[in-house]
Amino acid sequence: MATNKKLRSADWFGKSDKMGFVHRSWFRTQGYPDDYFVNRPVIGICNTWSELTPCNNHLRDLAEVVKRGVIEAGGFPLEFPVTSLGETVMRPTTMLFRNLASMDVEESIRANPIDGVVLLTGCDKTTPATIMGACSVDLPTIVVPGGPMLNGRFRGECIGSGTFNWLIKEKQGVENYSLQDIYEVETGVARSQGHCMTMGTASSMACMAEALGLTLPGAAAIPAVDARKKQLAQLSGRRIVEMVKEDLKISRILTREAFDNAIVINSAIGGSSNFIIHLLAIAGRIGVPLSLEDFDQVGSKVPLLLNLKPSGKYLMEDFFYAGGLPVVIREMESWLHKNALTVNGKSICANSAQSTCYNTDIIATLQQPLKTEAGMAVLKGNLCEQGAIVKPSAASPHLLKHRGRAVVFENIEDYHARIDDPDLDIDEDCVIVLKGVGPVGYPGMPEVGNVDLPMKLLQKGIKDMVRISDGRMSGTAGGTVILHVSPESSIGGTLALVQNGDMIELDVAARKLHLDVTEEELAARKARWQAPAPMASRGYVKFYIDHVQQAHLGADLDVLRGGSGSEVTRDLH
Ligand code: FES
Repeated sequence: MATNKKLRSADWFGKSDKMGFVHRSWFRTQGYPDDYFVNRPVIGICNTWSELTPCNNHLRDLAEVVKRGVIEAGGFPLEFPVTSLGETVMRPTTMLFRNLASMDVEESIRANPIDGVVLLTGCDKTTPATIMGACSVDLPTIVVPGGPMLNGRFRGECIGSGTFNWLIKEKQGVENYSLQDIYEVETGVARSQGHCMTMGTASSMACMAEALGLTLPGAAAIPAVDARKKQLAQLSGRRIVEMVKEDLKISRILTREAFDNAIVINSAIGGSSNFIIHLLAIAGRIGVPLSLEDFDQVGSKVPLLLNLKPSGKYLMEDFFYAGGLPVVIREMESWLHKNALTVNGKSICANSAQSTCYNTDIIATLQQPLKTEAGMAVLKGNLCEQGAIVKPSAASPHLLKHRGRAVVFENIEDYHARIDDPDLDIDEDCVIVLKGVGPVGYPGMPEVGNVDLPMKLLQKGIKDMVRISDGRMSGTAGGTVILHVSPESSIGGTLALVQNGDMIELDVAARKLHLDVTEEELAARKARWQAPAPMASRGYVKFYIDHVQQAHLGADLDVLRGGSGSEVTRDLH
């Protein structure tokens, strides 16, 4: 329903005085006629395109298609670039820059004559970063996910991007893969534009955006190179203009019900563990109370319906052909808040009511799920007083209850230096403990939690061990990996006090992670403990270290929680 609310952009373009002249005049260099400045919703197309982010390298083309839709609906599209985050190249980790990118998005929207926003996203962090920034401004917002790559193919087999990374060490060490073999895998696995096509973090983030109600229905699974992705972009361009007229702000979509729905859907699709940290950060921006424990309470008993790698068989292209996320949403209806509003003005369940599943081997039914419980488990105990997470469905069943001897690595350099030492005192019953990879310690909390096993154990045929760290894990990886230990070791969490030979008890069913050391001994170790030297003394990284919150709060910067709204009263003269 249209409102008579004055457009925000009219405060720039609608004035008849000197400032109106200033604001309009320089835009004339781009050839816009008079009527573009009168009562046309200005749509900011927030583009994370970058050649340094290969997963997003088609977003310039997609932006042009969004513009088509905006103009058709009577809007004025203006594309703008924001910080992009290329998962596979940025050092030390893109997660260090997620909050920086979100600041860029927030301030770019706030400072400019924008009435509504289209977020063009793709690679892992580009989706949460842009949503976080948009939340802090709270204008009408729609997400257009860039879409996954086509299925990878290698020597007659379907292979998934990301997941093969975790096999390289084994392939080289056990199957003697040559560099030429590796080149062949590289080109076979990345054979089209788009983001990783497993149910890794990028796919999970696209599904999260759809489950939250921030995309048009069916957006998440459409491959980047499928013409229907362009249709979706054009329709999103049309829709955002209507959303501005309806004053349908992102805060009306992102209710607590929408967050619950996203948690349920992430479990049902076997989504990435990174979903937790990003959803917590988004909730913190929009002001919806959400705790780490909510992910266990709302999501841990949810059945798994989607048979996608890394834990399953298929890839995102197959998911799209099977009917995509609307089929999962329809199937999970009894678990969802049915009336949660989405960007097209309809409820999430109304949008998926007519969906059809074309392959139940890819999308199972609620009556016959692939697993009965698929969500994340949140662990507590003296080793993780503020929590830690594990994905039981990606873990080895025999390790879910385990007591083992700690083999400790003080930081990532220590791990690399010693893990393949033939004299390392380690066997498959040990627990690998990696410190110094949390938000403050690395800095940026990289995806190193699923560290490779020692070569000597791989050669024995060992595929999994319990691994514990304050870092994250790639959504394309698996194993019995305890992640996001909070508080982290670098600020003096109990993880910092673990020593070689300590016994560690994991009991996922009881949600327990315990360091079997007396309180007196822990207190003595704590008294001797010295914090490692900060990893930066200036610039953004220093600012990040000083302000980043712990994993159980979403690892956002404390100064970024909440929002500033869209009003900026002072002009440039
Ligand atoms: Fe970009 Fe996987 S590297 S989505």
